[in-house]
Amino acid sequence: MNTFDPQTPAIVGYVTPWSAHAGQDLAFKISSRGNRAFTATIERIDCCDPNPDGPGMKLVPIDVQLESTYPGREQPVFPGSCAYGPMPPLKDIQKVNLDLTVQPTLEDASLQTLVALQNHDGTHGAAIALTHGELVFLSLATGEQINTGVSVAADLWTNLQISIDRDGHVQAISSGTNAREEAFRNMAEFDVPFSAAAFDGTTLCFAAIWRGHPEQAFNGFIESPELRAASNDARGDQRQDILLAHWDFTPTLDHARVPNWLDSDAPLALVNTPMRAVRSSGWTGREMDWKHAPEEYAAIRFHSDDLSDCGWETSINLCIPADLPSGVYGLRVDNGEGVDTIPFYVTVASGGKHARIAFLAPTLTYLAYANNARGNFSGALADRVKAWGAYPHNPDVVPSFGTSTYNYHSDDSGVSLSSRLRPILTMRPGYLTFLDEHGSGLRHFSADSHLTNWLKEKGFEFDVVTDEDLDDRGVDALKHYDVVLTGSHPEYHTRRMLDALLAYRSAGGSLMYLGGNGFYWKIARAASAPHLLEIRRAEAGMRVWESRPGEYYNQLDGEYGGMWRRNGLPPQKVAGVGFTAEGDFRGSFYRRTPASFATDHAWLFAGVKAGAEEPLGNFGLSGGAAAGFEIDQTATDLGTPDYVTVVAYSDNHDASFVTVPEELLFNRMVGKPRVHSGIRAHMICGFGPSGGGLFAVGSICFLGSLYCNGYDNDVSQIVDNCLRRFLTISQASASPVGARA
Ligand SMILES: [Fe+2]
Repeated sequence: MNTFDPQTPAIVGYVTPWSAHAGQDLAFKISSRGNRAFTATIERIDCCDPNPDGPGMKLVPIDVQLESTYPGREQPVFPGSCAYGPMPPLKDIQKVNLDLTVQPTLEDASLQTLVALQNHDGTHGAAIALTHGELVFLSLATGEQINTGVSVAADLWTNLQISIDRDGHVQAISSGTNAREEAFRNMAEFDVPFSAAAFDGTTLCFAAIWRGHPEQAFNGFIESPELRAASNDARGDQRQDILLAHWDFTPTLDHARVPNWLDSDAPLALVNTPMRAVRSSGWTGREMDWKHAPEEYAAIRFHSDDLSDCGWETSINLCIPADLPSGVYGLRVDNGEGVDTIPFYVTVASGGKHARIAFLAPTLTYLAYANNARGNFSGALADRVKAWGAYPHNPDVVPSFGTSTYNYHSDDSGVSLSSRLRPILTMRPGYLTFLDEHGSGLRHFSADSHLTNWLKEKGFEFDVVTDEDLDDRGVDALKHYDVVLTGSHPEYHTRRMLDALLAYRSAGGSLMYLGGNGFYWKIARAASAPHLLEIRRAEAGMRVWESRPGEYYNQLDGEYGGMWRRNGLPPQKVAGVGFTAEGDFRGSFYRRTPASFATDHAWLFAGVKAGAEEPLGNFGLSGGAAAGFEIDQTATDLGTPDYVTVVAYSDNHDASFVTVPEELLFNRMVGKPRVHSGIRAHMICGFGPSGGGLFAVGSICFLGSLYCNGYDNDVSQIVDNCLRRFLTISQASASPVGARA
């Protein structure tokens, strides 16, 4: 799979990191089909809704000094995870034994490599592989294949003891328990005429053949393997085996290497981040945390479609100019056959001049959804993309760049890791996610431009802080701001991020949570691999796949994963409301509560036309109205602070909406009775003890309603009232954490 695939965009790229402030560098990695030269320009991305009935695409050219053209290079993609490194020298050894315990997870017609004993580029040597569930030997020089008749069943553990003689004699013993619960031990002997080539090797690769990149990769588990030498004693008899290498596959927080206990200078390098912290053959179920029983987690799970780093060369290095204001930008590259706009964020250095408002760009949620192949890109949606001139590429059609944590690997296991070191088609201006009969059908990056567009139109100056900035810098990333605004769906967070938001609020900062199903999943990141996020879909929640029991602890940080609700910080504690119900991407309206008419809240509804019991926000570009798709409620028992008031609740959702599973018990709901319960979003407002405001809308569709009627509508009015009020109270009091310059 590489960029010669005709479905792949003619020019496409990625940038690392995703954000930078003045003086910092961004590295853009571009693949240009046919090595065509390309031009590059910078655009400010104010709005990326291609709907002709909406505000339109607003991509504003920015004058930043770039070269007139750049030499193009077509850069390939090689998916598949593996572990490769130096092979112990076998020069004087006549016979080796390989001890491999494996569990294939996908039986198919492809060649899936268990191990290759090879030269540095895989052009010489021998590989042991599976095809159609049968063990085969492969000559890397000639491609000759020896079928062994040894079967290795999918989804069961099999121990393989494979002895290879230089003279071509091979013995394979397979043992385990079969699907009929019968213990088995089979022995097969056969000739592999090219076996001597294995002894000349310098490199050993598990789960793929290493040709400078993985090829013929394996799907399944391999447990800590061993290599032994069988030598002859002085009388010529075979002596006991000598251990040459023991590769320890038990999980550690070193995501990049696997040690060889016999030679500390010869670790294996892990490529494309296979899944670790997975059950191995000895898992008993008595221990759920790999850190407490690493020997029960001594396997690595490889996938032939893992992709954590395309490894492309840098095409453009952009140093952020001192005068480029914070915001959402894109590098637009054009090679004459195609165009790509690669988004990036300009932030403010800690000593720089800050705006009073921050848009907290939910970049880690964008990453969790990166290249989400939904299987809906055909027919009317594809027609609309053409008709609207929307972003033309879709991961349904272009599989080369991997999928999202909402997808499955080819062996049907859930994707638990996502990387930003690859082109992300879903994060492009004008990307349509749904065929939305009542609106534009935008999600995530494009949907959040409804907010940045509104801020620009209303004349509010704002900076951008990304999720990664928040995770890396903690509350320091927010301390300069009076008000922090979220996007439409800020769903994925680390503990550091939530702690930072809580610290910001408790120090008097104001938060406007303008989305739905926010602060829901607990993710892991590793400082040594900032491009990655990990999600274990543990225990409960609205899930498209579930982690296997015993695999709820992350490989990247060793922490327990899953929902924040199951980890001591429910969304209600962070933002006042939390996920309650989900349905189709279809909006409905809110109704004001009687409390919203009290003097305390009159300011929030100043100029709002909807009166008591009248629909509020029954319009919009996301699902046709302000409340919908995924909706949130208050719950005092889950942490909603007492000082907030439900000022509106949504109503009239269609039959597609269901209560989320974590809210349900047999015959009753979880927790204490809720106010305005049922299938409803809650809009809330209040002021904390330090004076900071908390406003939340509990709906993914909400931001799509800002634009309607030339921004003169109740939703726009409420957000405007709230933002101005929060700015006013902040000005009247000390700065949020007393640090604003
Ligand atoms: Fe989500």
